[in-house]
Amino acid sequence: MPQQLIGISGSLGRPSKTHALVGAVAARVSAQFGTATTLHDLDAFGPSLGQARSLADLAPEARALVDQVIAADALIVGSPVYKGSYTGLFKHLFDLLEPAALAGKPVLLTATGGGDKHALVIEHQLRPLFGFFEAVTLPTGVYASTADFTEGQPAALPLLARIDRAVAQFTPWLRRPVTANAA
Ligand SMILES: Cc1cc2nc3c(=O)[nH]c(=O)nc-3n(C[C@H](O)[C@H](O)[C@H](O)COP(=O)(O)O)c2cc1C
Repeated sequence: MPQQLIGISGSLGRPSKTHALVGAVAARVSAQFGTATTLHDLDAFGPSLGQARSLADLAPEARALVDQVIAADALIVGSPVYKGSYTGLFKHLFDLLEPAALAGKPVLLTATGGGDKHALVIEHQLRPLFGFFEAVTLPTGVYASTADFTEGQPAALPLLARIDRAVAQFTPWLRRPVTANAA
């Protein structure tokens, strides 16, 4: 069975640069490690997410997505920067999880913002949140500003190089597919 990679985008709207960034990173992970990849944005969890005070309050479909996140071999998470941090609903999703739910899970952190001023949102906001869960955050985070996108897709060459550097850091945690020996 292929390793399961889940990408979660904390954007509240569609189309979404964050979703595009998470998707681009996920495509690179799948290409390198042969993972089965599923992407979810917050809309995918439906209206019960915002109202839930605990996992038991989630609609069955939303609960199934949360169970996928908990069971995943690896995660890519991303949020747009809102007022210097992740979005409120993104935090609420993770507030519903048990503290041990993500322990030891490799997580690649991403974020998008209007400009470069808040690039450290990854270090100051996202990394501590996943540190709380004792997840294994990859050393390199991927931040993209509006100028890094062309037609809604990550396009700036330094950004693409950084994506590749971050993705390679999954190596200790994800198996590479066995390739046929050409000889
Ligand atoms: C309510 C709100 C607050 C925002 N705050 C910031 C901010 O503090 N810093 C920043 O760089 N961009 C900020 N932005 C811009 C978004 O982070 C940026 O456009 C992001 O790429 C949008 O991602 P999305 O297309 O996935 O929704 C804000 C946007 C909104 C709607």
